[in-house]
Amino acid sequence: MAQRTLFLLPGDGIGPETMGEVRKIIDYMNAEQDAGFVTDEGLVGGSAYDAHGASISDADMAKATDADAVLFGAVGGPQWDAVPYDVRPEAGLLRLRKDLELFANLRPAICYPALAQASSLKPELVEGLDILIVRELTGGVYFGEPKTITDLGNGQKRAIDTQVYDTYEIERIAAVAFELARTRGNTVCSMEKRNVMKSGVLWNQVVTETHKAQYSDVKLEHMLADAGGMQLVRAPKQFDVIVTDNLFGDMLSDVAAMLTGSLGMLPSASLGAPDPKTGKRKAMYEPVHGSAPDIAGKGIANPIAMIASFAMCLRYSFNMIEEANNLEKAIANVLDKGIRTADIMADGATRVGTTQMGDAILAE
Ligand code: NAI
Ligand code: MG
Repeated sequence: MAQRTLFLLPGDGIGPETMGEVRKIIDYMNAEQDAGFVTDEGLVGGSAYDAHGASISDADMAKATDADAVLFGAVGGPQWDAVPYDVRPEAGLLRLRKDLELFANLRPAICYPALAQASSLKPELVEGLDILIVRELTGGVYFGEPKTITDLGNGQKRAIDTQVYDTYEIERIAAVAFELARTRGNTVCSMEKRNVMKSGVLWNQVVTETHKAQYSDVKLEHMLADAGGMQLVRAPKQFDVIVTDNLFGDMLSDVAAMLTGSLGMLPSASLGAPDPKTGKRKAMYEPVHGSAPDIAGKGIANPIAMIASFAMCLRYSFNMIEEANNLEKAIANVLDKGIRTADIMADGATRVGTTQMGDAILAE
């Protein structure tokens, strides 16, 4: 059996608590299913800064690069607010994304039936919701040059951010979206603003050409990104996979997140390009939430976002589709039974802590 290498970066705050529940699942899969996971662990964020003055060491960076997949907990906390900017906890996360060239950010918005009441929308609009937002993560206006604030000398300043996209960047994110759509509802909705932005014109054109050349079996729709935001809130179940740029994807994925309830439920994946020799993609899996300093160390954090991130890892890095589905089903079953951490607590439910939630999912 081939080895499957995982590099674990629990990080700060509730990161180590929620990662502990994933470790139990890894141990179980190795013992009971001969899964062949080989794990190693490193430091990232404030804990790495405390240990060696950097938010991730070069040695741990090398391990992250070599592993089949990286599992990331969360970083940050008030005790590191005053550390220098380039070694602040978040710098470790940004370095991982940049050095591993993780250009595709996958944010599913799944509404478990048992939690439809917790959505900010009407339950019937979101019950059974299962959409995937594919956001371009390494280009666009967050990185484009020039990026400046200039003093105009007349009491006025001018701020410039630049939206830049090259054909190859749009092609590769579109390919990820089409490939993922084939494993789901086979429909992609591409969102941009071609009516007012040149980058939107090129985005639309390249997505259309990529579709025609390689993915014409997938259904493709186009929507202006502002209308897309409206439709996400009006009738979210119309979507399957949404592909969009860095800025629109940042906003649209946060909107989609609120359709599903708690921050403690939301997983994410970030993928790189396939290796030309092996076809394997570099990948990192992490919950959307942060280190939650307000509840860290209390044993009450919801581990579901971290566990669901591991389910994405099984699916996308190891093609363990059945195992991923089983793990997600186990989460749904536990919620159906009314087992809840504090953040998703409801009337009549049984309140549990982090380890009990992990145990309940493992038992399922
Ligand atoms: P946060 O996501 O850590 O917490 C926001 C609120 O949600 C808090 O009330 C927290 O208790 C709750 N929450 C979050 N995850 C939860 C879980 N699994 N179970 C139960 N409740 C949960 O965001 P916040 O408070 O803005 O940031 C705290 C620290 O985390 C900061 O240092 C920030 O920079 C960092 N951060 C790190 C991220 C990362 O590592 N990817 C992402 C976002 C923030
Ligand atoms: Mg955001």
